[in-house]
Amino acid sequence: MTWPVLVGSRVTLKVLRPADVDSWLAGDDEEQQRWFEAPGPAPRENVVRHVSAVREAWATAGSKRHWGIWLDGILGGGIDIEDRGQGSAYLSYVVFPASRRRGAAAESISLVTAWAFENWPVNRAIAIIDELNLASRATAERAGLRFDAVADPTEYSESGRMLRYVLPRP
Ligand SMILES: CC(C)(COP(=O)(O)OP(=O)(O)OC[C@H]1O[C@@H](n2cnc3c(N)ncnc32)[C@H](O)[C@@H]1OP(=O)(O)O)[C@@H](O)C(=O)NCCC(=O)NCCS
Repeated sequence: MTWPVLVGSRVTLKVLRPADVDSWLAGDDEEQQRWFEAPGPAPRENVVRHVSAVREAWATAGSKRHWGIWLDGILGGGIDIEDRGQGSAYLSYVVFPASRRRGAAAESISLVTAWAFENWPVNRAIAIIDELNLASRATAERAGLRFDAVADPTEYSESGRMLRYVLPRP
């Protein structure tokens, strides 16, 4: 499979390259550390490993696919979707502080879920979101996902009370 570039009206999604490591590091902030429960800023070697792992997943048709989010030619975040079987694909996303509140996350979710429904035999896209993460809940709703239920502990590893948002196959 070729590695798809997904083009929206605001964002362009492309698979990260090793040259993107420094831009990714520059986007780290306390907000994403909070919601991803990171102990602090990601060390450079973790980001290098991350970029290598996402490229490996594309090369080997892995179950999780990740794109960098570009806004006005600048790396503004990332998004991934994972086929966990039983018709369900799980989303995860981050937008860096300088690129927030410009519709980047919502449009990226729409592009990635459209890609998944076209390429995978999945019936629903799911986001598992901390009930206190109002930005992410608003973003999921903006992208057409709807609150479904309190998430099952098998669906996440974070410590908060987590909610399941769902977008059914159109
Ligand atoms: C959540 C996050 C990805 C949103 O990214 P973004 O690109 O700023 O979101 P968008 O601009 O696409 O906003 C989509 C909707 O959410 C709303 N929204 C975004 N951030 C918000 C905030 N901090 N508070 C309230 N609403 C917010 C926007 O107003 C918009 O709704 P509208 O179009 O009805 O006005 C970003 O804040 C982030 O990376 N946070 C840290 C990591 C994280 O929480 N990831 C998700 C884990 S589940």
